[in-house]
Amino acid sequence: MSVHDQIAEAQTAAVVSIDQADDLESLTDLESSLFGKKSQLGGLKRLMGEVAPEERAGVGQALNEAQRIVREAHAVAKERFLSVTRRAELETERLDLSESVEATARGHLHLVTQTMERLEDVFVGMGFTVSEGPQAETDWYNFEALNLPAAHPARSMFDTLYLDLGDRTEIGDGEGGEATNILLRTHTSPVQIRVMETLPPPIYTVCPGRVFRRDTADASHMPVFHQIEGLVVDHGISLADLAGTLNEFTAAYFGGAIRSRLRPSYFPFTEPSAEFDITCVICEGDGCQTCQRTGWIELGGCGMVHPNVLGNCGIDSEEWTGFAFGFGIDRLALMRYGIKDLRDMYTNDIRFLRQF
Ligand code: PHE
Repeated sequence: MSVHDQIAEAQTAAVVSIDQADDLESLTDLESSLFGKKSQLGGLKRLMGEVAPEERAGVGQALNEAQRIVREAHAVAKERFLSVTRRAELETERLDLSESVEATARGHLHLVTQTMERLEDVFVGMGFTVSEGPQAETDWYNFEALNLPAAHPARSMFDTLYLDLGDRTEIGDGEGGEATNILLRTHTSPVQIRVMETLPPPIYTVCPGRVFRRDTADASHMPVFHQIEGLVVDHGISLADLAGTLNEFTAAYFGGAIRSRLRPSYFPFTEPSAEFDITCVICEGDGCQTCQRTGWIELGGCGMVHPNVLGNCGIDSEEWTGFAFGFGIDRLALMRYGIKDLRDMYTNDIRFLRQF
């Protein structure tokens, strides 16, 4: 076989072995057999001495050319394997930053919060502001200032939860100086006092919030519930304004078919006082189970702010008069949606909550 044939054969063998390498590692393993002294082409170089002098240049050129081709085939193969490895690395390091287009399950506000916000909206639409107060109150704000002194029999209307603060009773010094008991407010009426103490009349405000009573949970009672209180103090406010405001609110919140009515009642902080009923929202007055066939359901209490209460807040009851009303938000939501058991609202069963 001529030297040229041997060179061609060695070149082909080298290129075939490169083509057969199937990863970077086996290609690297090939390198010494391709380029080393013991490689086929390397061996041929040593034969140069035996080549006739006039053929040496041609053989040398052929050898160089063969080596160039083998190196190039090797470089191409190496680059191919490297780019495969790089792509695989990029793939594993990839972060999917795109947002999921699928609609994921989204939460929403609790039924009581929704109801509270709707009530606020209706009152704001009627020109009221929204006021808030603390849930832990002093005896002064929750009772005394509301014309309910210590031993007043009407205190039994409110089963009160008192807080044990150890020695820190000095926090309890209220406006009157004598109240040292801290309690969880039993109604939103203490916020009336706080508003009247801080703002000069005219006052048109509603106070929504959480209230607490020492009650055992049953289908219609919870020890923690929500109320919204309304307070108006201005020149020449009368019971007719109270009745008109409640009627206006009832129609705005429930729709035109629902009216309100007042029944005489008693609250220490209002005089005269009334309970207010609304047309049954389930039967619209025809009589059903919810309203015990009366066509009316009891919503809350109201009345003209007692002169003692105005006086306790430094408001001259000769100059100003006002009315107040308050009702439970949870019960309202309960009736509106025909919920049978108040406790269902607070057990956080997602199947129940999702319905609203
Ligand atoms: N605070 C009373 C209650 O919780 C309701 C009420 C508010 C009554 C305002 C009259 C005026 O029962």
